[in-house]
Amino acid sequence: MNQKIMVTEPEAGENEVDTGYLSINIPLDSSFGPRERKLLDLLKKKIPARDCYFSLTDSELTFCYKTVDLDKIKALIEEHYLKTKPDEKNTSGHGKIIFDSLIDHVENNRSYGIKGRKRIYVGYNEERKVKGRKAQVTKRCSYFYAYPNNFTREVNEIPKEFENQILCGDSESVLKKLPDNCVDLVFTSPPYNFGLEYDTGEDGQHWESYFNKLFLIFDECIRVLKYGGRIIVNVQPLFSDYIPSHQIIANHFMEKKLIWKGEIIWEKNNYNCKYTAWGSWKSPSSPYLKYTWEFLEVFSKGDLLKSGLRENIDITGDEFKKWVVAKWSIGPERNMKKFDHPAMFPEELVERSLKLFSYQNDVILDPFNGVGTTTAVAKRLKRRYLGIDVSEIYCKKSELRLKELLDSYVSL
Ligand SMILES: C[S@@+](CC[C@H](N)C(=O)[O-])C[C@H]1O[C@@H](n2cnc3c(N)ncnc32)[C@H](O)[C@@H]1O
Repeated sequence: MNQKIMVTEPEAGENEVDTGYLSINIPLDSSFGPRERKLLDLLKKKIPARDCYFSLTDSELTFCYKTVDLDKIKALIEEHYLKTKPDEKNTSGHGKIIFDSLIDHVENNRSYGIKGRKRIYVGYNEERKVKGRKAQVTKRCSYFYAYPNNFTREVNEIPKEFENQILCGDSESVLKKLPDNCVDLVFTSPPYNFGLEYDTGEDGQHWESYFNKLFLIFDECIRVLKYGGRIIVNVQPLFSDYIPSHQIIANHFMEKKLIWKGEIIWEKNNYNCKYTAWGSWKSPSSPYLKYTWEFLEVFSKGDLLKSGLRENIDITGDEFKKWVVAKWSIGPERNMKKFDHPAMFPEELVERSLKLFSYQNDVILDPFNGVGTTTAVAKRLKRRYLGIDVSEIYCKKSELRLKELLDSYVSL
């Protein structure tokens, strides 16, 4: 049953009642009968009042809470309604809606975090072991490496000839034609220098010249990024060369005064390892480590906060809860043969990143756009986009992908 009951919170400032609990009120009607009262008795017995408790008047049920083990309460409610029969005079069974609505409301209320199995809604600072946390943070100087910088808050519109385009060329020279501060988010994965067979070849230079070229392009990306904009780089280091590309790239961004917002592990669960000679077999002399994941390095320009309109947020509560846990289990792209590209990332990786770090209508740039995974997802998620790739063939495939997306809308 999808029916919900209006749950009200007292006016702002009043909902943290003098006892230090948050509270919500639920109006009662005839559906609240003896069966519900029994459930209240049960919850009283099973849930410690120092965490949360109910109080009941003739017309209202009030739930007061500091910390809540939502799973336990949900299980108790479900079990109660399974095990008990509807009251003789009240057979509607609607009483459960009261408790479901309550749980729904608490679940959607922002908590400070989870301790054990309990969500903490009040008294977070009391729980923390560090005293005078704010002063300590100021003293330590968070992201000290990002100061001083010359970034300005000036915003430029992306010129029309670059908006929603796939451009073929070397990103370094194409990006030079863009004004400063006109892109909201860069999402990309550069060629890895593994010797993969791209259409234009040349994926295996001396590491130094590889990074020199990469950084010329990334510096342009930083320049065109708006204040508060994000740059997310998916990278797989070449472990067998002992080159930690993800760290080298991260260091470069920090040298350029970007703020490290975090690192996401893209767990591909790819145990399909080709090599059986694992370094020095069964010997500590030089064991060779194996990885089933890649990295996403996330950086911000100037500010960790990114402004945007509330109505342009498209991430759901469930998605947000799951995706802020920075280990994403997503299988590798299965369509590389179809697109004839050796190093595509899956659409889901882009989808999560765009919904978590950008707003609808934002401008998304991929300077190594390949066959257009980033641009196709950006379009599908109602973002504006610019994709650049040096290969004409890949650019044509990206265009085709966008056209197919458009055709699918028309046929709906
Ligand atoms: C790892 S692939 C990106 C694949 C893409 N994420 C996808 O899903 O299709 C890197 C791409 O960078 C392109 N590339 C290499 N050097 C470039 C440059 N200087 N400017 C623009 N693109 C370049 C290659 O052609 C290749 O398609």
